[in-house]
Amino acid sequence: MVFILAATGSAVGLGNIWRFPYITGMNGGGAFVLIYLLCVFAIGLPIMVAELLIGRASKQSPALAFKKLGGKNGDYWQYIGWFGIIAAFLLSSYYSVIGGWTLYYIYQSFNWHMSDLTKDHALNAFSTFTADPATQIFWTLIFILIGVIIVLKGVKGGLEAFNKIFIPALLLMIVLLVINALTCKGAWDGLMFLFYPDFSKISGETVLAAMGQAFFSLSLGMGAILTYGSYLHDKESLMNTSFVIVLLDTLVAVLVGIAIFPVLFAFGMSPESGPGLTFITMPVAFSNFGTVLGPILITVFFMILAFAALTSSISILEPVVAHFVDKEILSRKVATIMLGFLIFILSIPSALSNGGHDIFSSKNFLGRSFMDFADFIVSDNLLPLGGFGIALFVFFVLSREVRRYEVPKYYGIWKPLLLIAAFAVAFVYLHKAASDIPWLIVAVILVMIIIDLAVISSKQESDKPLEPHELQEIKEARKLEHENSNQDNST
Ligand code: TRP
Repeated sequence: MVFILAATGSAVGLGNIWRFPYITGMNGGGAFVLIYLLCVFAIGLPIMVAELLIGRASKQSPALAFKKLGGKNGDYWQYIGWFGIIAAFLLSSYYSVIGGWTLYYIYQSFNWHMSDLTKDHALNAFSTFTADPATQIFWTLIFILIGVIIVLKGVKGGLEAFNKIFIPALLLMIVLLVINALTCKGAWDGLMFLFYPDFSKISGETVLAAMGQAFFSLSLGMGAILTYGSYLHDKESLMNTSFVIVLLDTLVAVLVGIAIFPVLFAFGMSPESGPGLTFITMPVAFSNFGTVLGPILITVFFMILAFAALTSSISILEPVVAHFVDKEILSRKVATIMLGFLIFILSIPSALSNGGHDIFSSKNFLGRSFMDFADFIVSDNLLPLGGFGIALFVFFVLSREVRRYEVPKYYGIWKPLLLIAAFAVAFVYLHKAASDIPWLIVAVILVMIIIDLAVISSKQESDKPLEPHELQEIKEARKLEHENSNQDNST
């Protein structure tokens, strides 16, 4: 239970409340949401099981986990772990900027007045805020510092215990906002936008964005969930655990959508307003709660959001810190401080991407602002490619015994799903490639890798269940290993 809450705390974050609504808005609504849900269950779920599995079977940080489980080719497979580290750096950099926004909104909220809770004020306040370079950099820095202090002090566990209160509080707040939204005059238009699929709005770009959103929101593809897996007890079912996390995370995202889009349409705002969407819509949504409750509730909302952002951002930092510590390259303290510093430097261009500086704000980077570009590289490319690698690793490289031991039930469903997930990732790139040559190359390489590996593995034995003596052997080997590592730690 504590585990599920901790992993859900990592998954539920800005991805659900900031990213999901604005990406949905930009991609035309209903059809995008449908494809997103498909990606969550067809790609996200099996890959989440795979990530947890690698973590639990290896009890290591990402790169070492691949090395350890990868057998004679472990040295190559560990690059998936390295890949994740690069993704984590880049992800943290702009995640911290948005995290900074949530902190600023709390700070501002002590002055929220009813008159601030209007469309025009919200729009102005947001664009003035994001256009001010010093303020942007300042709040990003504060957000990074809080994260660094939490990782340094090792109070992550304490923070996670707080998830017991936080996750129900978040759900309660969202339900309140959903009720509010459904009573808005334009509610129906908003719901239609969110759920009525208009397939003419689907392109390769949209499908890629839906897949990226699924990876981002579920914290998959870079070893964060893998790290959680290394704490998970052998008795817990990976499939059930993953299912609960995926369901909760997706529920939060969809509910947030229901809370936002009706308000948006009721007040005649554009769903395509970009990364500011949640920050602009929320003050308007809260205006319905009256002069006293409105300003109080919006403060509570941004506090919850900041907490959600913080738990997620720590789950991005942890595997990277663990990597340098486990490889004995750096001490925990030095690794955390250096990481914090590097992320801060890297976050500056993103902090200036929403009006702060022309170079970064104009669409100079593949037709995107710098922040959108960084997000595109991470969410739509690095995470799915990482997930692709993870799926192939678990499917083809891990021994049958380990897989069988880790997923005793639902094995027959999960294993084919995993390969389908890998194919689906490749297919999305292929689809995108129809209009874009560089992606064609990526997609063709991916498909070739899968076919190659499929040929190799078809020569191996079939997947019958483990015999009791095999089960016993694995159990004992694990126990022995556990005792050895305890001895190592105590000497
Ligand atoms: N899932 C988190 C969110 O929705 C963000 C996040 C945390 C993440 N850890 C991650 C995304 C690891 C990708 C990989 O806000």
